Amino acid sequence: MKIGIPKERRPGEKRVAASPETVKKFVGLGCTVTVETGAGLAADIPDSDYQAVGATIAADPATTLQDADLVLKVQRPMTAAEGNDELKLLKRGAILVAGLAALQQRDQVKAYAEAGITAFAMELMPRITRAQSMDILSSQSNLAGYKAVLDAAQHFGRAFPMMMTSAGTIAPARVFVMGVGVAGLQAIATAKRLGAVVSATDVRPATKEQVESLGGKFIWVDDEEARASQTAGGYAKEMSDEYKRKQAALIAETIKKQDIVITTALIPGRPAPVLVTEEMVKTMRPGSVIVDLAVETGGNCPLSKPDQVVDYNGVRIVAYTNYPSRVPVDASNLFAKNLWNFLSPHWDKEAKTFKFNFEDETVSGTCVARDGAIVHPLLKEGA
Ligand code: NAI
Repeated sequence: MKIGIPKERRPGEKRVAASPETVKKFVGLGCTVTVETGAGLAADIPDSDYQAVGATIAADPATTLQDADLVLKVQRPMTAAEGNDELKLLKRGAILVAGLAALQQRDQVKAYAEAGITAFAMELMPRITRAQSMDILSSQSNLAGYKAVLDAAQHFGRAFPMMMTSAGTIAPARVFVMGVGVAGLQAIATAKRLGAVVSATDVRPATKEQVESLGGKFIWVDDEEARASQTAGGYAKEMSDEYKRKQAALIAETIKKQDIVITTALIPGRPAPVLVTEEMVKTMRPGSVIVDLAVETGGNCPLSKPDQVVDYNGVRIVAYTNYPSRVPVDASNLFAKNLWNFLSPHWDKEAKTFKFNFEDETVSGTCVARDGAIVHPLLKEGA
């Protein structure tokens, strides 16, 4: 079984899909691993670290991928339309394991099927306990939540903790976290560690206890709809217009008292909900900071601009895309480990290859293309 690890080519992507730790494990199984030169450099992993654990270094993507049976990537391959056809470098019959943004990139899933590739979209990993160690959204969102708070601190002209100095007392920063999933929880924990006074909101009632256990104050519209807002998969549902109106009124009251707002609210496969309107931003004090982690799916604040820091009447709105790539070393190591945890149970010792059990929900839940067809229920015609 030959594994290829190409360098990521999408602009701004610093992560890599395999670490020396996981390459060592794949080599230990009996796989041959080829890493493209420089693949780990932006994550501080030199070629020599991969070589030291048994990988071969290839000079270019074509050599890395030409005979790879399994290709590990962070992001979906680039297309001819994007000026760099990475997909054509994969051989027919290859297995591709990566974050494929499959629900947003349906045409590309069709292209995998047509190219005879078995493709696993790791972002579709079911939210079951057994799959936690394979969940790229979870491992990457955690780091995003952490970094969002540091970015907020960097753009904030004041300190976070309360300080009693001989020259006077500095009040603690007030941080409001909107959306308490994995990123939001880490943002709360990080802001607390820095000494801020933290409050948070979400539509899912299960988050109340989580916020409070981290020392935050929970702000919530408590009604029937909210109490049923969590899907069986653990995600939020799109809320009704009536709920959105009630929520907006509560948020408007809360937001004017905040120094920092971190927004992380997402709804899988749909645009991010607008939570911080222009009117609300107008009520914030100059020097306040908003960090919008949802900008890639439209943003929780309509004033956010991808990869820009917008100044709106003195309120700084920070909206970097690809947040995990801002912590590339840890993000790569955890991402690589997620892929290993997903793949390793399917290694067939005798056949010395991966044989996937399609009865396993981590396999059927992530496989989007196989045997020349689109196979995921969410992507089939009419879904
Ligand atoms: P996410 O990234 O999809 O969304 C972030 C947060 O935004 C969620 O908490 C969501 O409820 C919230 N949100 C959506 N619409 C909102 C609105 N209109 N107003 C306020 N908040 C809104 O969520 P994430 O971080 O992926 O986690 C979702 C859940 O899945 C969590 O309970 C998490 O613990 C669970 N999870 C379970 C895993 C497993 O068991 N394998 C792995 C990872 C997460």
